[in-house]
Amino acid sequence: MAEYELGIIGAGNMAEAILRGVLSSGILPATSIIAADVSDARRLHVQGELGVTCVADGTEAAQCPRVLLAVKPQVMPDVLGAIAGAVRDDALIVSIAAGVTTSAIDAGLGSKGRIVRVMPNTPMLVGAGVSAVAAGPRANEADVSWTRDLFATSGKVVVVDEAMMDAVTAVSGSGPAYFFYLVEAMVAAGVAEGLPPEIALELARETCLGAGRLMGETGEDPAELRRRVTSPNGTTQRAIETMDASDVQEHLTRAVRAAAERSRELGN
Ligand SMILES: NC(=O)c1ccc[n+]([C@@H]2O[C@H](COP(=O)([O-])OP(=O)(O)OC[C@H]3O[C@@H](n4cnc5c(N)ncnc54)[C@H](OP(=O)(O)O)[C@@H]3O)[C@@H](O)[C@H]2O)c1
Repeated sequence: MAEYELGIIGAGNMAEAILRGVLSSGILPATSIIAADVSDARRLHVQGELGVTCVADGTEAAQCPRVLLAVKPQVMPDVLGAIAGAVRDDALIVSIAAGVTTSAIDAGLGSKGRIVRVMPNTPMLVGAGVSAVAAGPRANEADVSWTRDLFATSGKVVVVDEAMMDAVTAVSGSGPAYFFYLVEAMVAAGVAEGLPPEIALELARETCLGAGRLMGETGEDPAELRRRVTSPNGTTQRAIETMDASDVQEHLTRAVRAAAERSRELGN
């Protein structure tokens, strides 16, 4: 039996994004990874595209020194029950399942392994994700560091306490959708102001991308960047005043709080 370094349970969209980053960075070769997935189509796709061994049964992946759990939260209890017997006592278990606590994973695996939880986000699919890493039961600094390096191949990484994961989920996990929502609204508004839809979409999308890059590449405070495009008595000032009069910031605060509350509900 081949000795794999990393076993993946669930070779779906997020696992594929992680694998693409890992393989292109070269931190692990495809030959050191085995992925288990119940879907024939996913196994064929991941093995064909990425050269990673894909199997239907999770046992061999669960026996690896490091195991990445990348199945949907709702199937996690069954998956943990199925693999618990195969997991090594000294394995590093990394889970990306939203809302599933490390104590639930620990209970599901019968207190085996050292557990780390990660909340990535979908821009990881294009190598521009941001992931929050939290140490769980028995995880040590080397485990957090290894996990950080793994996720750094597909974006930025922050390390947080697990208690912050609901807030992380509300800000960066769900966050990409907030920006898509904003772009949708800007496109509709641009069309209402007389722009052809495809032009409005290109303007709004590229503005979102450009503003994101400007923030990322300069590292400047967003409030300062905003101040610089807001000339006294100009068009931007009028728009911001209109948003302030409608309490847009307060609405955003409430939306993020609602997402965090939903994340807490899902974790209970
Ligand atoms: N998408 C996000 O923005 C995001 C962000 C942060 C965290 N996450 C987390 O990432 C995890 C994966 O999400 P995803 O979008 O990659 O989901 P996905 O594409 O559905 O991938 C999960 C894969 O696992 C397979 N699977 C189901 N039961 C299995 C089992 N018992 N053993 C092995 N494989 C099994 C699924 O097959 P079938 O489809 O045939 O069931 C599917 O191919 C989720 O827990 C999610 O909470 C996602």
